[in-house]
Amino acid sequence: MTELKITIPSAKQASYTITIGTEILASVWLQIDEQFPNQSKFIITDENLVNAGHPKKLTGDREITTFVIKPAGEISKNIKTVISIIEEMEKCALGRDTLIVALGGGTVGDIAGFAASIFKRGIPVLQIPTTTVAQADSAIGGKTGVDSTLSKNAFGAFWHPVGVYIDVGTLKTLDERQYRAGLIESVKHALIANGEYFDFLEKNLDAILSRDTDVLETMAIHNCKIKGSVVELDPLEKNQRRMLNYGHTIGHAVEQASGFELLHGESIAIGIIGAGLIEIETGLGTNDRLKRIQTIFEKIDVPTEIPENLEEKKLVKLIKHDKKAVQHWPRFVLIDKIGHIHQKNGQYALEVEREIVEKVINKLKKR
Ligand SMILES: NC(=O)c1ccc[n+]([C@@H]2O[C@H](COP(=O)([O-])OP(=O)(O)OC[C@H]3O[C@@H](n4cnc5c(N)ncnc54)[C@H](O)[C@@H]3O)[C@@H](O)[C@H]2O)c1
Ligand SMILES: [Zn+2]
Repeated sequence: MTELKITIPSAKQASYTITIGTEILASVWLQIDEQFPNQSKFIITDENLVNAGHPKKLTGDREITTFVIKPAGEISKNIKTVISIIEEMEKCALGRDTLIVALGGGTVGDIAGFAASIFKRGIPVLQIPTTTVAQADSAIGGKTGVDSTLSKNAFGAFWHPVGVYIDVGTLKTLDERQYRAGLIESVKHALIANGEYFDFLEKNLDAILSRDTDVLETMAIHNCKIKGSVVELDPLEKNQRRMLNYGHTIGHAVEQASGFELLHGESIAIGIIGAGLIEIETGLGTNDRLKRIQTIFEKIDVPTEIPENLEEKKLVKLIKHDKKAVQHWPRFVLIDKIGHIHQKNGQYALEVEREIVEKVINKLKKR
């Protein structure tokens, strides 16, 4: 078992430990009780997690009030679910001395974290992520929120967890497509911050795809260190944290233009290839480097080209509306070598000429 400490310098109370291991779920509750002896506990999870038996493993014979999100997934990541959760907590007469335990993927974590941030002006939340996305990304960093009918994460708060338990054994029951798409955020971490980690991913890809828990633990440690250190530097996403948006400018637009037919990680894979093409155009990258990344994506079996049925005009329009856009033109995060983010005058999200972006989008469609 490995323990990592995350400290947010601006807020001492926002320090927490990430515990990483295999098949640790059954012993986590003892540690939770030890750390929070005086809190009532309220679990938030979803129906797929229940079917996979994870909440039962977590609680054992204990009777813990549990809210099961139905249906599972993004469709329930909205304010109505948050209202149901809060009203359920009130019905159970839970007060400010309650700890929310989020057991699930990024949707459960985002919903539970947001509910915790607003229930009676804020109560602690503990994250137990169970997807490749959540273990590498969403459970660490304190971003929480739910979607409006118009956009993703329209309601939200920065609300750091009081602890994170990563049991890579829980990934065994995750659907194959979700599992693979979620690996892209790990590749992203390696690309922006650690070249040796990229070599590790390249070498161990077969073991990763067969869900070898030793390799998954090593990955979790790398992911948490990388994401944790970026979050420590810039908890509120003023600058450095933007580097985590590598591949996300084009990726988000592709995800949206596909009507969310493509999963987030699948769209980000296309976005990372797009960033790679921009790097080549601007002299920051080489074809060989891009080929290495593309080979990994092909083995993971995620798309590396914009699907034919996506309209280019729609895509460019969406890119202009990216949240990092300045004067209707987006900023791009780029790398200058594998494992190293490119920065200019201390900025990580940089302007790229329109012609280059349009050319790259064209290339991304047919290579
Ligand atoms: N807060 C952040 O910083 C952050 C970062 C990245 C993504 N996100 C958010 O995360 C969400 C996506 O999260 P996700 O990809 O984990 O999707 P998800 O939570 O919807 O999980 C994917 C599917 O797998 C099921 N599932 C989860 N764990 C399982 C397991 N161990 N075994 C079997 N089934 C399991 C879920 O029920 C769901 O159907 C998005 O809403 C995104 O906006 C947030
Ligand atoms: Zn992402």
